[in-house]
Amino acid sequence: METRSQWGTRAGFILAAVGSAVGLGNIWRFPAVAYENGGGAFFIPYLFALLTAGIPILIMEFTIGHKYRGSAPLSFKRMNKKTEWLGWWGVLVAFVISTYYSVIIAWAISYSIFSFNGSWGTDTEGFLFGEYLNLAEVPGQIGSLVPGVFIPLIIVWAVVLGILFKGVKKGIEIANRIFIPALVILFLIIVIYALTLPGALAGLDAFFAPDFARIADPDVWVAAYGQIFFSLSIAFAIMITYSSYLPKKSDITNNAFIVGFGNSSFELLAGIGVFAILGFMATAAGVGVDEVVAGGVGLAFVVFPAIINEFPFFNEFFGFLFFASLVLAGLSSLISITETYVAGLVDKFNISRTKAVLFGGGLAAVISLLYATQGGLYFLDAADYFINQFGVALIGLVEVVMIAWVLRELKGLQTHANGISDIRLGSWWTICLSVVTPIVLGYMMFGLFKQNLL
Ligand code: PFF
Ligand code: NA
Repeated sequence: METRSQWGTRAGFILAAVGSAVGLGNIWRFPAVAYENGGGAFFIPYLFALLTAGIPILIMEFTIGHKYRGSAPLSFKRMNKKTEWLGWWGVLVAFVISTYYSVIIAWAISYSIFSFNGSWGTDTEGFLFGEYLNLAEVPGQIGSLVPGVFIPLIIVWAVVLGILFKGVKKGIEIANRIFIPALVILFLIIVIYALTLPGALAGLDAFFAPDFARIADPDVWVAAYGQIFFSLSIAFAIMITYSSYLPKKSDITNNAFIVGFGNSSFELLAGIGVFAILGFMATAAGVGVDEVVAGGVGLAFVVFPAIINEFPFFNEFFGFLFFASLVLAGLSSLISITETYVAGLVDKFNISRTKAVLFGGGLAAVISLLYATQGGLYFLDAADYFINQFGVALIGLVEVVMIAWVLRELKGLQTHANGISDIRLGSWWTICLSVVTPIVLGYMMFGLFKQNLL
């Protein structure tokens, strides 16, 4: 048996974990979620969720991977023979996410090229759904492959699988050492440019204006927890996998704080950039910022191209920077999700990394072709909805309840982490994981089931 791969440096691990966390969720999800849930006031539930669930769970997952030194299924199995399935559940969710996350990165590649020829024209919505995606008229109809999506999608998978073939230190670590600093630089340029636009301040006013009354609404708290879970890539088995490659001597608690705050800083930066740009658009059109706010696919591929058309200077260059940063942020996350099941296969079947990348990554790549068809967007929406409703929060809930109450493993993990960290985990950590997080997530799941089943 080969010895387990290891990160070359502490910075390499931190960059890879930040690379996993910083993704589309920071750029196109956070700004809209914050705006819709109280603006400046949203930072209260958001910080609460970060400190009571996000960072505590991150510390827990880092500790599990480090202590049991395995992919998620193997680590859970070593913790207790009966909990291997919990790791596979996370692995399965990661697999499904990777099949469609890759497609959005492919779109971003196309759009970074379109920004130079102004291909999207003035009807950006018609362009996305009509000319580019060639979307089927009827939901559920598959239609034919769309070459504009198919070709960049092949590139995405070639890059990701190529990096994973090279392994943890020579592949994942080096890629993130290049991608993440590049992403931060691109994004800083974007934000500085955005702040110089006329109307930028109106956008920031709208973003930060606090609506404190909203804090009384439980849905706002649910939104904060949901954002933290998705954004930190926790409960998908990813962070367990990454920390299983840490050397014995690693300050995992400290690392978790760096990753948690690093991700949130990027989120804040994205909020400022996105709203400065929306403020520019609203001012130019003579409407309120609330009329132009969008998130997700609509923000990145419809609203932004339309705004970029109106920029006073550097339009092409700005468009390229924006879509290239989506590509970098997306790729570093896709690498982490794909590694999660690659590692699961290696540990379970004792096969080489090369075979695991070929089988696991290859299968995901083939399935992702479904989303590169004319019906692709409908399937993508369905998969994303399903994952968000029944994947993330539910796994998080089952995970903390199992570890805190069924297996009673928290104390052991705490001792392990404290033995190698400068930061001591006290009762703050155990109370958050055994009481606060289960109550909030339980409430969230209850609400979701009620909404879906009743
Ligand atoms: N944390 C990433 C983001 O905020 O975009 C998203 C993500 C990465 C989700 C990896 C899931 C995942 F497995
Ligand atoms: Na994120």
